[in-house]
Amino acid sequence: MSWLADRRIAVTGGAGFLGRHIVEALRRRGCCDVFVPRRADYDLTDMDDVRRLYEDHRPQVVIHLAAKVGGIGHIKERPAEFLYENLMMGMQVMEEARRRGVEKLVAVGSVCAYPKEAPVPFREDDLWCGYPEETNAPYGLAKKMLIVKAQADRQQYGFNAVCPLLANLYGPGDNFDPASSHVIPALVRRCLEAARERSSVVDAWGSGNASRDFLYVEDAAEAIVLAAERYDGAEPVNVGSGREVTIRELAAMIAGITGFTGEIRWDASRPDGQPRRRLDISRAERELRFRPRTALEDGLRRTVEWCRAVSATRRGGDGEREVISYERLR
Ligand SMILES: NC(=O)c1ccc[n+]([C@@H]2O[C@H](COP(=O)([O-])OP(=O)(O)OC[C@H]3O[C@@H](n4cnc5c(N)ncnc54)[C@H](OP(=O)(O)O)[C@@H]3O)[C@@H](O)[C@H]2O)c1
Repeated sequence: MSWLADRRIAVTGGAGFLGRHIVEALRRRGCCDVFVPRRADYDLTDMDDVRRLYEDHRPQVVIHLAAKVGGIGHIKERPAEFLYENLMMGMQVMEEARRRGVEKLVAVGSVCAYPKEAPVPFREDDLWCGYPEETNAPYGLAKKMLIVKAQADRQQYGFNAVCPLLANLYGPGDNFDPASSHVIPALVRRCLEAARERSSVVDAWGSGNASRDFLYVEDAAEAIVLAAERYDGAEPVNVGSGREVTIRELAAMIAGITGFTGEIRWDASRPDGQPRRRLDISRAERELRFRPRTALEDGLRRTVEWCRAVSATRRGGDGEREVISYERLR
């Protein structure tokens, strides 16, 4: 039986892509007092709302996921919002947890915190060896301050806050809105549409040479719950697949799975983002006893199947033309 099972747990951002899988993983462990605050009720950039959240629900454990999240195009358009909202949410949720004697807080961070030129694979000890890649720096640095606050609160007050750093996630329930989606849902959507419309070209951002470490969302959720259960250290912990794949290889896999047989046309005028990413996951293996279970090919297949199934249920139109809404397919 997990010690979490009889705790009151708040999962901020628990209705989001990763959050739903975390709530599910907590339920599987027997946790029945799990509260998910929604933005419409508690805007966590507002300290009065943060205080009200703790007052109303008195959590003993907090898993903080709430964040403004998006692909590099979205961050490039709204860097100020990404910095301000993520920084304020993180600082306030953690500060109020510490003041109220919350037993443990898990602050979910991101691979975007790593310096642009960090040696590959990224090791936690190299987090501070340079500035993040410019396009995602406002988001990455806001998330990075979670680590600084967690360590300062631990040192001064003995507060137990831990910081897993997640690789790029993907899977069922992802955000497929073209204005803000990450690379996998963007390519899945374009390839499915092109295959359906028998189009011969799909456009993709960048050179295709950048690489990423992609983690299936259910594996990520399991790692976060393991961090809540098992890890009480001051140092951040990388959570990824440990596998590096170029965007060109990824696009070829997605084309194969979706049945798109045409050309992928690379638009080098669009940013690549960070040149390379792969996480060293040895600390997570040692401290959390975490092993990613889902191979990229399998996870992509499940994502495409899910996307097909959900879009099929949303079909409408005039009988001649199929209209599929991909706006937030969840
Ligand atoms: N997706 C990735 O590839 C990835 C990679 C690395 C790290 N992460 C981290 O994982 C966490 C979850 O990401 P995700 O992809 O699941 O994001 P998501 O689907 O966009 O979910 C984020 C959630 O945050 C909540 N939120 C946003 N602004 C808020 C505000 N001002 N007040 C209260 N709640 C607010 C939203 O709640 P409502 O639903 O109520 O609006 C939303 O459900 C984030 O911390 C992110 O930084 C994600």
